[in-house]
Amino acid sequence: MDLQQVYLAAVVLAALALTLADEEAKKLWDRLDHLDPNHDGVVTQEELKNFAFWERTKDLREDAAEQWDTLEVPPGEKLTFGHYKEKSYGEDFSEDDDLGPYGRTVQQDHARFNASDQNKDGALDKEEFLAFLWAEEYPHMHDIITLETMEDLDKNGDGAISFTEFAGDDEGVMEDSVDHMEFKESDKNQDGQLNHAEVKEWLLGPTLKEDDERVATVLSKLDKDEDGKLTRSEIEADPEVIETLMYEEDGGEYLHDEF
Ligand SMILES: *[C@@H]1O[C@H](CO)[C@@H](O)[C@H](O)[C@H]1NC(C)=O
Repeated sequence: MDLQQVYLAAVVLAALALTLADEEAKKLWDRLDHLDPNHDGVVTQEELKNFAFWERTKDLREDAAEQWDTLEVPPGEKLTFGHYKEKSYGEDFSEDDDLGPYGRTVQQDHARFNASDQNKDGALDKEEFLAFLWAEEYPHMHDIITLETMEDLDKNGDGAISFTEFAGDDEGVMEDSVDHMEFKESDKNQDGQLNHAEVKEWLLGPTLKEDDERVATVLSKLDKDEDGKLTRSEIEADPEVIETLMYEEDGGEYLHDEF
């Protein structure tokens, strides 16, 4: 190769590298399309949170779609509780003794169904059904889950969970057991029992904080001008950071989990 050929080869390689980088950026922005749904060119903290939620619940949406099919909801119709009950509970199911498919009583299932029915039209559309199945992910469902758990644990029905009820047996429990630590930490007002708010925080506190923490980390790394929002070029400066909010399709793992 003479000098001219070397020069040409270098130009071609550089052009190729640029095209590849463009391809990568394009792929990223295809995937990130709903990161900036109003297409105003900046991604707010709220949009980042919605994105993290959307990514994290991908598998759940697929699962809900499968269950919707299994329930054989007629096309174009919504799911009524009657239909759900008929398809989900066994033929010789007894209302008094047996639990439904998710280990809940009919009464509990119905209460959860009602809480999912946000527009109160007596039936669930697919979005509402998602909240019915994966209530942990939806703040408007958190009181009903807390109630279910309290009903299950509160054996003497006094509306609060004692340590014995929390530990689930009457055996003497060692003071330093993990259960006991967990109980003490959850008992914020230290009155020796857990009330509704304390049970709610114990059950669901960590779920709620997860997205917030991820979003805060992403902002701290990418938001160079610290205006609380990200521009396209701030994101492209280090795209791997955004990938910490993206979920692997099947594995349920974050693409780049550095935490
Ligand atoms: C659910 O809603 C229906 C219709 O409003 C009502 O009849 C039923 O008692 C409710 N059930 C529970 C457990 O909240």
